[in-house]
Amino acid sequence: MKLARRMDYLHTSVFTDLRHDKEEMEKNSQTKVLDFSLGSPDIPPASAVIETLSTQAQDAANYRYAVNPLPELVQTIQEWYQTRYGVRLDADEICLLQGSQEALVNLPLLYCNPGDGYLIPDPYYPAYLDAPSMAEADILFMPLKEENDYLIDLDAITEQERKKAKIMLVNYPNNPTGACAPDWFVEKLIRFAKANDILVVYDSAYSELVFNGQKPKSFLSYAGAKEVGVELNSFSKSYGMAGARLGILAGCPEVIEAYRKLKSNMDYGVFLPVQYAGITALKTGSNVVEQTRQTYEARRRLIASEFGKAGWDLHMPDGTMFVWARIPDQWENSFDFARDLLHETGILVTPGTAFGPQGKKYVRLALVVSSYTIRAAAKRLMDSRFFLQLNQ
Ligand SMILES: Cc1ncc(COP(=O)(O)O)c(C=O)c1O
Repeated sequence: MKLARRMDYLHTSVFTDLRHDKEEMEKNSQTKVLDFSLGSPDIPPASAVIETLSTQAQDAANYRYAVNPLPELVQTIQEWYQTRYGVRLDADEICLLQGSQEALVNLPLLYCNPGDGYLIPDPYYPAYLDAPSMAEADILFMPLKEENDYLIDLDAITEQERKKAKIMLVNYPNNPTGACAPDWFVEKLIRFAKANDILVVYDSAYSELVFNGQKPKSFLSYAGAKEVGVELNSFSKSYGMAGARLGILAGCPEVIEAYRKLKSNMDYGVFLPVQYAGITALKTGSNVVEQTRQTYEARRRLIASEFGKAGWDLHMPDGTMFVWARIPDQWENSFDFARDLLHETGILVTPGTAFGPQGKKYVRLALVVSSYTIRAAAKRLMDSRFFLQLNQ
């Protein structure tokens, strides 16, 4: 059977290749690979969340279709947005998701006909590319450059791109660069979207993971945001619930209505015990979120100081669980660098090219390992003199 053309647009995950490299390395050299590649959170959910999930899973009534979200969860989300971000959300401005990935994949189907423009940052989270490609939209890259603090340069988007674009994907705190967006940028973004009639999809999957005393913010807290866009939020990173799929799409009611229509043809809602667990997470989890945030902040400080001693100077991110590191000039591209680093030290990182052309000279390190592992990796860098010999 010949597959449909849209399947040609899908890439195999870079992490499948990296897992293979890791297994080979461990088999051939008997070295345990220290893995900084995949961004899967290692911090478990609060025990109250696990308890709610398991208690609710004992109740036979919770195995019915969950076409409509639990009113108590919707109300809890409204209260959480109000107290956390000062944002008032009506019920028709909220749609429950099986993780935010779901909407990243489906939103292009709502608005893009073949040939419509779809603006995405470069570097990007991989779903930003594959999903609109499947809808046969034309991908328009918005480079995130170090010299612009990895903010999108809105002025660099051409007249032709502005006319063509239906959707703009924006992600701060940003995966993979760790950059956060200042107020002036979001205000300018809203003006830009309004003037050019472009729907903003603001991916806030890392909304709570911000450092240096910054306050978590919602895109929807800015004047005019709900008129031009929607925000994605997720329980995966903040509450350690990545496998218990739960996310939020909130904002412009017309978009929410259209999305619900699409969704009603695709699934029957989020498993009810997961919804109850979400209520517990939002109602009781603020300490847990703070501890999680502090853990990533401490790891990022530790990796910068320990790797720095071994000759690898890392730029400290303002948010997320990632470090976006420039590779030394001796390497032409990040794939070769990552391969050499793995072979010489047993440290696995993700080549930046996996996130787009702008990643050619960068690699991403995910801080989803213990401080013990960070120290062990620094020791390997030191012992191998991998960076120290470059600097001689
Ligand atoms: C930027 C970004 N957006 C969205 C997601 C998807 O998160 P989830 O579907 O678990 O909510 C991820 C996951 O790593 C991500 O990094």
